[in-house]
Amino acid sequence: MLKDIERVLYTQDEIREMVHKMGKQISSDYAGLELVLVGVLKGGFIFLADLIRSISIPVSLDFISVSSYGHSTSSSGIVRIIKDIDIDVKNKHVILVEDIVDTGLTLNHLKGLFLSRQPAGVKICSAFDKPCRRQTDIAIDYKGLEVPDQFIVGYGLDYKEKYRNLPDICILKSEVYSEK
Ligand code: PRP
Repeated sequence: MLKDIERVLYTQDEIREMVHKMGKQISSDYAGLELVLVGVLKGGFIFLADLIRSISIPVSLDFISVSSYGHSTSSSGIVRIIKDIDIDVKNKHVILVEDIVDTGLTLNHLKGLFLSRQPAGVKICSAFDKPCRRQTDIAIDYKGLEVPDQFIVGYGLDYKEKYRNLPDICILKSEVYSEK
């Protein structure tokens, strides 16, 4: 696996520090409120597992699984719900938890969907942000680390379902995804 990696972009220690700060901020912002974290599968699963343990207030957890129509390397903006959440979020505060915001189209769609469910509020939290690829002006309320316009893997992020188990955020060698 490591032979396919060009370099480490963020180490697990740097990621841990970011997650810890974010968890502290969320704990302070939502103290006394009913909070539901909604993880967007699959990429967000490791981040969410770390984030929830950095939150010190009561919190509920659910997952949504989505798939984007269109070709596999970029988002089309049309999102199909494969598995919806089970919790009723009416009058509750929702934070959508993603691994990465790229074009922003997935979260833009999901935010609209959750707002239609009459929550007390919907905010967005993402471990990584690739702003140079953005196609919407969606606000990321809790933003982790910025990444360049390169193919990154690890810490939950995949290329063709592999590399999610790398503990660091790494840049994939271009020959790996240019291979036919
Ligand atoms: C990634 C990521 C976001 C989406 C972001 O998911 O987890 O859900 O793409 O892209 P966007 O901002 O351009 O919409 P992916 O489709 O790779 O699925 P995965 O989470 O199962 O790996």
